[in-house]
Amino acid sequence: MLKLNNSQLALLQLLGDGSCHSGIALGKTLGISRSAIWKQINQLLEAGIPVKRIAHKGYQLSNPLILLNDQKINNFLQIFKFPSIANLHIFNSIDSTNKFLKELPATKNVDICCAEIQSQGRGRFGRHWHSPFGENIYCSSRWNLHCDLSRLSGLSLVSSLAVLSTIKELSPLAEAQIKWPNDILWHNKKLCGSLIEVMAESNGIIQVIIGIGLNVHSDTKNQPLADSTWCSLMEITERRFDRNELVAKLMCHLAEYLSQFIEAGIKPFIEEWHNYDYLKGKFITVSQSTGSQSGTACGINELGQLILKDNEGKIHYISSGDASLKTR
Ligand code: BTN
Repeated sequence: MLKLNNSQLALLQLLGDGSCHSGIALGKTLGISRSAIWKQINQLLEAGIPVKRIAHKGYQLSNPLILLNDQKINNFLQIFKFPSIANLHIFNSIDSTNKFLKELPATKNVDICCAEIQSQGRGRFGRHWHSPFGENIYCSSRWNLHCDLSRLSGLSLVSSLAVLSTIKELSPLAEAQIKWPNDILWHNKKLCGSLIEVMAESNGIIQVIIGIGLNVHSDTKNQPLADSTWCSLMEITERRFDRNELVAKLMCHLAEYLSQFIEAGIKPFIEEWHNYDYLKGKFITVSQSTGSQSGTACGINELGQLILKDNEGKIHYISSGDASLKTR
């Protein structure tokens, strides 16, 4: 697992402005020799962090970088009026932010875990979640929900709507949509995925972990991933972001949506869902561990189940699965 020492972190902070810095200048600022800088840069390169060496000039990060910082996230949470107490757990590197929160002893607050890189980022259905250093948001949050387990049906849809509302706030014209149950797409390309894990219930409180993988700065045009079509916020908005601010915004939107969901269930969200439903009217196949079902997607019902009409006109209500578009 990637472990950054203090010099490497300080180097990344200096190089984060995106301009070229000479070895001498970097060494002077950090109080270490030029050759020590060279050694630290080599280690960053070995760890896969893209630092360019420019002959006779110095070092430059391929892209500007603002590192995750708990104080900054806390400040933004206050500015945006996050309604609860947040415990922040920020890591340079971690196996999986969801796994970290799963293993963390229960607290009364909202625990939020973010990392610059995940070595074992997890997606739905046991898939791997590509999590390169410093580019995107890998953020999990753990919430104590005061309700019965039976009321949680539709939670993943509501949490996706919260993420979508954050994206809409940043870029109101972005034509982002949600693919049931919780992929966020833009022009048929995946922008964000969520992994939701519900923990045991005790004293009427359910712990829920919401893991969000949001592509922020990945250069999806020039470095497409092999197995799927992806996009990033930068591609949509043509600007860069401070991920500290984005994390705080996401958490505030989640808090607002979750509180309304616990109070009133999924009903108040159904119209919003229909406005952004990517699958509506499309012929799809939903794969589940028990088999698969094809048909036309007809929105969701009041339990958050996908309504599927098969070729014989029979209606199926589907609670979970992986939906893909199908040509007839
Ligand atoms: C999916 O679309 O398959 C869900 C992807 C969820 C990825 C996020 S990144 C932060 C959190 N930690 C993980 O290991 N996974 C989730």
